[in-house]
Amino acid sequence: MTMKSVKILFLFFLFNSLLFAQIPTRLLSSQIESKIDSIIRLMTLEEKLGQLNQIGGTWYDTKTERLNLEQTAMLKAGKIGSFLGITGAIETGRIQRIAMEQTRMKIPLLFGYDIIHGYSTITPIPLAEASSWNPELVQQSARIAAIEGSAIGVHWTYAPMVDIARDPRWGRIAEGSGEDPYLGSVMAAARVKGFQGDDLLKYGSLLACVKHFAAYGAAEAGRDYNSVDLSERTVREIYLPPYQAAIDAGAWTVMSAFNDIGGVPSSGSSWLLTDVLRKEWGFTGVVVSDYTAIMELIHHRIAKDSTEAGIIGVTSGVDIDMVSRIYVDKLTSAVRSGKLSEEIVNEAVRRVLRVKFVYGLFDDPYRNSKPGKEKELLMKKEHRDVARQMAKQSIVVLKNERELLPLSKNVRSIALIGPLAGNENRRELVGTWAWAQKPELVVSVIDGIISKTSPGTKIIYDKGCEIESDSGARIEQAVKAANRADVVIAVMGESQGLSGEAASRTILDLPGRQKELLKALTATGKPVILVVMNGRPLTLEWESENISAIVESWHLGVETGNALADVLFGDYNPSGKLPVTFPRNTGQIPIYYNHKSTGRPFVPADKYTSRYLDAPNTPLFPFGFGLSYTTFGYENLTLSASTIKSTQSITVSVDVQNIGKRSGEEVVQLYLRDDVASVTRSVKELKGFNKISLNPGEKKTVQFTIRPDDLSFYNLSMKKVVEPGTFTLYIGGNSVDCMEASFEVIE
Ligand code: GLC
Repeated sequence: MTMKSVKILFLFFLFNSLLFAQIPTRLLSSQIESKIDSIIRLMTLEEKLGQLNQIGGTWYDTKTERLNLEQTAMLKAGKIGSFLGITGAIETGRIQRIAMEQTRMKIPLLFGYDIIHGYSTITPIPLAEASSWNPELVQQSARIAAIEGSAIGVHWTYAPMVDIARDPRWGRIAEGSGEDPYLGSVMAAARVKGFQGDDLLKYGSLLACVKHFAAYGAAEAGRDYNSVDLSERTVREIYLPPYQAAIDAGAWTVMSAFNDIGGVPSSGSSWLLTDVLRKEWGFTGVVVSDYTAIMELIHHRIAKDSTEAGIIGVTSGVDIDMVSRIYVDKLTSAVRSGKLSEEIVNEAVRRVLRVKFVYGLFDDPYRNSKPGKEKELLMKKEHRDVARQMAKQSIVVLKNERELLPLSKNVRSIALIGPLAGNENRRELVGTWAWAQKPELVVSVIDGIISKTSPGTKIIYDKGCEIESDSGARIEQAVKAANRADVVIAVMGESQGLSGEAASRTILDLPGRQKELLKALTATGKPVILVVMNGRPLTLEWESENISAIVESWHLGVETGNALADVLFGDYNPSGKLPVTFPRNTGQIPIYYNHKSTGRPFVPADKYTSRYLDAPNTPLFPFGFGLSYTTFGYENLTLSASTIKSTQSITVSVDVQNIGKRSGEEVVQLYLRDDVASVTRSVKELKGFNKISLNPGEKKTVQFTIRPDDLSFYNLSMKKVVEPGTFTLYIGGNSVDCMEASFEVIE
């Protein structure tokens, strides 16, 4: 071998070592797949089905250990692949050690948990966060949730929930981003990036889980777990985009939903889980069923017994059976009897092992079982700061008569009234899916206001009534308090249990005797500010006509009191916009902005048009609506062209000016309408938004690019197309008050 060839050989090895040096623990996908092949070849059928089995630890903490003897035996026999609901760096480490040292295959476990909007540092509920229209901040919020989830030993969060919801009777509207596919898609991607970080192998990243696939939010009559019946076009155009956005953002897991769609349960639907998710969207990760959803195929009455339910589930594309224990108990015999191909089982196992590899668990099964991290990371100041920023930007001012808000910090006296104002109900302020929250760590409204106002401000507090119960009201005392103050701040709304899972309501008024209390307070003639804390739109028609100022606060999390005080006293100019329509009454539901024209669009003078006899068609507060303490003017709406080909883009620009006296942020929204098409189209659809900050007098030009995909829809043959014709575009600070322009698409 000549010296030259030695040099070439050396350089080759040097290059190779440098190339792979950057990924010492990161395997190439081809390497992962070949490792998976070799593992699967060594596994028994029972061990394979064990990987598809997820159980919840005993929900009571018997000692420090979360597994009972039966569960421990299952684990040692290799019959468990992942856990739900087990937290704690020490306990997850202890259980992982059993898997790594006392099972035959030594395959690391996955620990999953519902970290929906924070673990210890609870941030606003997702519906509130969506009201910020600030995806960067929402991503930060998910990031701190992932860091805290990692600290407690969890690998995998069952979030983001991205279900579109047009029906506020459905309690789980609280967990998503509202009614719009575009806003929902932007928020879904932001949360996936926040949870998974820029590198899944880095500490502080969690596997995301997009749920509930699919269209769970369309439960008939807003009743949770109820049937869904939608056209494929509506499923694809309204409900699927946020799931696809989450997958495109890199989500590694999906949770299949409880509901059926048009007669096919989502957790048994090959169309959804294989054709759409895997073949159309290219998803290569894991599908986990929702809690007992595989067993529930029996309740749906598409499976006569557990074995049939398990075969339907795994064949349709559900890889992990959450808690039913059907895969692990029933599918061995199904395979042995020829009812189920072992290849289908192998494919599901492959996906599970793939996710465990990409999350680095084969490298370091104890990556998140580091006891010191809990003390270091949970509820740290930087996390509370993000939570406060997020909460401030989630607040939506719905009414502000005579600029009652912001209040002066030196106001002489405030009557702070209502069941959600004081310290005793702090637990309720964090909203649904916040089990780990310690109420004493939540900043209450009264604490926030005391710390914000001057020492000379007198604050007279009275709970006035309970949240839900009719007893225990002290309305007279509350009225006396109101009469002794210059201004009344009434803090009312829902407890955390009134929204979230299994929390559908048919009456959406303020619960219990809160409305009665509010009327009594208003009767004093004092100026009243209503702060509403809720997990869904409420019917506030009387309030909108009789209360001077209404602040939609949602459930804001640990920094509730500080964030509200920031807004109420002007340290933060509110910028929130509604991600969901507020109905006048439940009779209008479902009501949403991107509705169809119908053949008889409402004409006030014509009885025989689409209308009600006893209420207007318009909502109480429209999608995209929210007030600021300043005012924004829009002018110079211009298009880069008046006609484009169906393959071209068009640029839209508009000048936005702050014509008020305070700095503030405006969410500039772009909507489109396809004027005439081969199928009926929405009267308008959100296609872009841009949140900008402007000082008093400052003007900015905001630009949007409309691309062919923004103009496309599913035609009569269910093909996504752009059709020639005119389009109308709308730009403004909400979905109603907009400037208009139009352009034409030619062949
Ligand atoms: C629940 C919910 C789902 C959650 C799962 C695990 O029933 O539907 O959102 O992630 O079970 O707790």
